[in-house]
Formats: sequence, structure tokens, C-alpha cells
Amino acid sequence: MIKVGIIGATGYTGIELLRLLLRHPQVQITLATSEKHAGKRIDNILPSFSGATDLVLEELNDDAITSKCDFAFSCLPHQSAMKHVAHWYAKGLKVVDLSADFRFASAETYAQWYEPHSKPELLSKAVYGLPELYRDQIKSAQLIGNPGCYPTGAILSLVPLLKAEAIIAESIIIDSKSGVSGAGRSASVDSLFSEVNDSFHAYKVGKHRHTPEIEKELTKAAGQSVVISFTPHLVPMDRGILTTMYAQSQPNGPKDTASVLKILHDAYKNEPFVKIMPEGILPKTKEVRGSNRCHIGAVYDPRTNRIVIIAAIDNLLKGASSQAVQNMNLMCGFEETMGLQALALLP
Ligand SMILES: NC(=O)c1ccc[n+]([C@@H]2O[C@H](COP(=O)([O-])OP(=O)(O)OC[C@H]3O[C@@H](n4cnc5c(N)ncnc54)[C@H](OP(=O)(O)O)[C@@H]3O)[C@@H](O)[C@H]2O)c1
Repeated sequence: MIKVGIIGATGYTGIELLRLLLRHPQVQITLATSEKHAGKRIDNILPSFSGATDLVLEELNDDAITSKCDFAFSCLPHQSAMKHVAHWYAKGLKVVDLSADFRFASAETYAQWYEPHSKPELLSKAVYGLPELYRDQIKSAQLIGNPGCYPTGAILSLVPLLKAEAIIAESIIIDSKSGVSGAGRSASVDSLFSEVNDSFHAYKVGKHRHTPEIEKELTKAAGQSVVISFTPHLVPMDRGILTTMYAQSQPNGPKDTASVLKILHDAYKNEPFVKIMPEGILPKTKEVRGSNRCHIGAVYDPRTNRIVIIAAIDNLLKGASSQAVQNMNLMCGFEETMGLQALALLP
């Protein structure tokens, strides 16, 4: 049994961690923080937890965290996270950070897309927490940079096709649609019901901060620099991301759908949480909602010689909190699937 702290427990990812970890057989949640609601019982402000916990929210205090916890999940915004994580790391806690602060090995890349990094010495200690790619490194890591929500589906889909030299790296276009919870729980005009409902729009075209995170992993897989076109969209749903990716098939690459699916299936046939859809079935966000799964489907279009790959995840789960628990399981030597076997909530 490990003693776990959830830092930023009242945000969307923190709430999901509470829900998952309260039922995890190897976890005791010893601390949960909120600045706005410190001193209140969790179930007073989040009635869905009535009868499930007596925990009272605390203000963020680094010394309290290091004395009460063996393991911490940081659900803080980027920049806030790095200062606190550095303190916990120095005291020997294992940490999964859900922000972007430890996703990059390069402080320069982080500074270019975010802001200057105040703890660059920690970047080389962190492991990128995508278990399907970095399982062995995660097992021995003390600090994990949990992947971003958009990158998770895109990287899982494209890495096997680049490694197999099936697609032309220069031709990749990624088009993603996310539910509104991707923006977090703090109020903003852009996420008001009247702004989002019955509408659909692109944003941050060509300059979204998840672009360099996707590019660094695709570059490693391709063995050459990969530059992508990435366009995110906001759709009027609570949660879920559907990512559609387009790439030209290599001259010697796959020329039918079955061959594309075989590459993906071979890459993930032993993975508990990545499922390749049979030919003719394409992923839907509803079919992964509430689960730690990534569903991937593909079609080869002979008219354009393009491969179209489609991935669905729940942004708050495989795109954030359940992936964080998958990382915790690996870091602590627990069964990787422990506490994560829920299937999708359908409809
Ligand atoms: N939402 C997603 O789909 C998603 C997916 C992947 C990664 N992420 C990343 O995960 C992190 C959390 O995201 P979220 O969507 O859960 O955010 P959120 O809903 O805005 O929640 C943020 C939490 O952090 C606390 N907090 C904010 N600023 C703080 C500060 N300066 N000091 C102490 N506590 C502070 C808030 O506490 P109060 O109760 O005081 O407000 C709240 O509990 C972010 O870095 C985000 O980029 C999010």
C-alpha cells in the first residue's frame, strides 16, 4: 500500500484521479489539495464522492506533502508544477506530473513553446510517460512527465507506421477534435455553454503547444526530423478526443487497408489499452469514454495514396489521469492494469 497525494484535486484531472485511486487496491489517498476549497470535505464540494471518502482538502504545502506521501500526482498548471515537483523530487517522492513541465528533454524547446523553465536540471531525470513506448524506463523512474491529451492518440497511431517506414514523414497532417474538459475547470468565456454548445471551431492553428511534443516523438520514431501540420478543434462534448491523421504511403508502403492495420496490430497486439479496430470499423469517442483505452482505426485510400488513421481517447483518462495511474502502477511494481479495467460508459 502506498500513500498518495493528489495536488490540485478539484480540477478535472484531479477529480478523475480521486475516482480511480479511491478504488485502487494498493493506494491510500493521504492528502488532496485545493486553494479555493481548503478546509472543506471533498464530498461537500464534489457530491459524487459522498460516502466514498472523509478526506478534507488542504492548502498546497510542500512539507505536508513530503511528510504524508510516498507518491504525488501534480494536477497543477504548467510553471506552477515545476517549482513544487522539484521540492517533492528532492525529498525522494515518486511523482507523475500531468502538466507539460517535464515532457521535454530540451529546456530550449520548452521555452520556445511555453515559458523559460526554472528547473531545467530535472528534465534529464524525467521519463516521458507513454507506457506503450517507454515501459522499461518508466518502471525505474522517479519522475514522469505525463503526456498531453492530443499527443497521446497521435503518437500511438503514427509511431508504428513511421518505424515500419510505411508513411512519408514530411506528409503528416493531424486534425484533432476535443471535448471542452480539455481546457480544465476554471471558468473562461470560451468554455461557457452558450459559446460552445451547437458550435464547432478550430483554434491555435499551426501553433498549439502540443505540436512540439508530437514532433519530438515522431522524430525519434522516424530517425529524421518530422514537422507536422496540427489543427485542434473544440467540439460541444464534455470529454473525448477524436484525431484524424493523413499521411502519404511510401512507394514501397502499404497499398491496402489490411496491410496498414497489420502494422498497427503487430505493434499493439500485447497492449492491454490500445485496441486496433478491424477493417471497416472506425473509432468513436463514446466507445472509449470513461476508459483507459485508445482505439485506432485506419483506411488506405488508393485514389490519393494516402493512409488515414483515426484515434479516439478520453482526454481525461488515457489523455491524462488513467494514463498517470498506469504510470504509477509501473513505477511501483503493481500490475499495470490495476484499477484501470473499466470499459467505456456507453451511451
Ligand atoms: N483537462 C485535460 O484534459 C488535461 C489533459 C492532460 C493534461 N492536462 C494538464 O493537467 C493539469 C491539470 O489540468 P486540469 O484540467 O485538471 O486543470 P483544472 O481543472 O484547471 O484544475 C487545476 C487544479 O489545480 C489547482 N491549482 C491551480 N492553480 C494552482 C496554484 N497556483 N497553486 C495550487 N493549486 C493550484 C486548482 O485548485 P483550486 O481548487 O484552488 O482551483 C485545481 O485543483 C494541467 O497542467 C493541464 O494542462 C489536462
